[in-house]
Amino acid sequence: MENKLYNNELAFELATKKIDESRQGETLTVERPSTTASNGKKFYIESYGCQMNFADSEVVASILSQSGFDSTTEFTDADLILLNTCAIRDNAEQRVRHRLQHLQSVKKKKKGALIGVLGCMAERLKEKFLEEEKIVDIVAGPDAYRSLPLLIEEAETGQKAVNVLLSREETYAEINPVRLNSNGVTAFISITRGCDNMCSFCVVPFTRGRERSRDYESIVAEAKELFEKGYREVTLLGQNVDSYRYSKDPKLVGKKLVDAKYDEGVVNFARLLEMVAEVSPLLRVRFSTSHPKDMTDDVLHAMAKHPNICKYIHLPVQSGNSRVLELMNRTYDREWYMQRIEAIRNIVPDAAVSTDIITGFCTETEEEFRDTLSMMEFAKYSMSYMFFYSERPGTVAAKKYKDDIPEEVKKRRLQEVVDLQMKLSLEHNKADVGKTFEVLAEGTSHRSEEHLFGRNSQNKVVVFPKADIKPGMYVQVKVTDCTSATLKGELVH
Ligand code: SAH
Ligand code: SF4
Ligand code: F3S
Repeated sequence: MENKLYNNELAFELATKKIDESRQGETLTVERPSTTASNGKKFYIESYGCQMNFADSEVVASILSQSGFDSTTEFTDADLILLNTCAIRDNAEQRVRHRLQHLQSVKKKKKGALIGVLGCMAERLKEKFLEEEKIVDIVAGPDAYRSLPLLIEEAETGQKAVNVLLSREETYAEINPVRLNSNGVTAFISITRGCDNMCSFCVVPFTRGRERSRDYESIVAEAKELFEKGYREVTLLGQNVDSYRYSKDPKLVGKKLVDAKYDEGVVNFARLLEMVAEVSPLLRVRFSTSHPKDMTDDVLHAMAKHPNICKYIHLPVQSGNSRVLELMNRTYDREWYMQRIEAIRNIVPDAAVSTDIITGFCTETEEEFRDTLSMMEFAKYSMSYMFFYSERPGTVAAKKYKDDIPEEVKKRRLQEVVDLQMKLSLEHNKADVGKTFEVLAEGTSHRSEEHLFGRNSQNKVVVFPKADIKPGMYVQVKVTDCTSATLKGELVH
């Protein structure tokens, strides 16, 4: 029987990707630096997609405020409306198209207002965007944000302005992101950009370009600054954080340091993690995303050594079947992935593991799909982001393989995955009842003014009585009850 939820793709995405989905379409405000004169114009920015896109919107806001713009959270009030877009699945793009339709009325009312499309969908469609969506004035790809002030000037003269050049070097290293509507406790730091992996289903290598690592000194400096401002948790972001590598040796800068080791003057991800963890024992460090082919035991040992490196790994499996994994060009097989899970259990026994899963990839048989379910049982994921396959133009899969699994089959398999994950999450959480965790308080619970929420090291949301606790404080919470999504508990003094 068809699940009612599927009538609405958006509701479906909401159900399967709870946490990140709640941020889709979020806007942000900034304060113009006091040293910069106002140009009398206001910008509005809305973000879609992954955490990296949200981090990029903060970079964009910094660049614009430094060139004299003020920000607004009302698009009706803006001279410049920006959408930072995602192209990962077809429904992500549809959402942006709907939003653009909606903005058409603003443009009619407010003469001279400009509309700009940024991010991955801009990069995927390039100039074509201007033909398809006539109301768009500016198209800027993820590596072109420094040129935004120029693009805006160009658009103000009535021309369409496009910059979708991808860079091998751009990391926006020294641009200090603004974090005004953050909770003041947790922040994201981009450590790599782009991706060199070429998973056959994925559009990211085309929209974000070649992988490059950001200078570790600027990463550590940003973590320090955040800690001094009162932040207590940073998440290091990259499409594949494990392939982080940076060297200051001029001979090596810009080179792909594939097998380089830390003792050769190269900072790898395990070392970077330790450098950030050493900023302060009171600063929690998280990271995302790990790639099963690259996640080394060194990273696991760094996690085991530092109590403030959170015991949580997001390790996307995509499929539990080796033939499908090969078609996906994930470059590991079922056995390799299982060995990685075992390594985590041996070296960081208290770690929680979450994953990403795609159902109904080209030619996936029912039996092969069952391997994904059994992998979920084996890995006992605490949480999963689950999707059905959506063919992306230009990818290897789109060119080489037939998207031959009927949509109802893709969705039925997805429902099985979602149901199993609900069961696994509940079991995972039930096993925590009676345990006491250190929780970093983040804010007031969405359900009750009398309660706060925070997360434990394993990235589980924990709700507890407010008492006199303030966001940013660490508390000990004994878990007394749970649902599949949340732990509930009482304060232990
Ligand atoms: N860099 C990360 C994932 C980035 S995209 C990694 O390698 O794991 C986030 C997730 O979106 C992916 O893990 C995958 O599960 C999903 N995804 C990517 N392309 C997709 C597609 N064409 N159809 C459905 N899901 C897709
Ligand atoms: Fe896409 Fe694969 Fe790169 Fe992740 S590792 S961003 S799934 S190509
Ligand atoms: Fe989407 Fe681009 Fe992120 S395609 S998931 S916004 S890297």
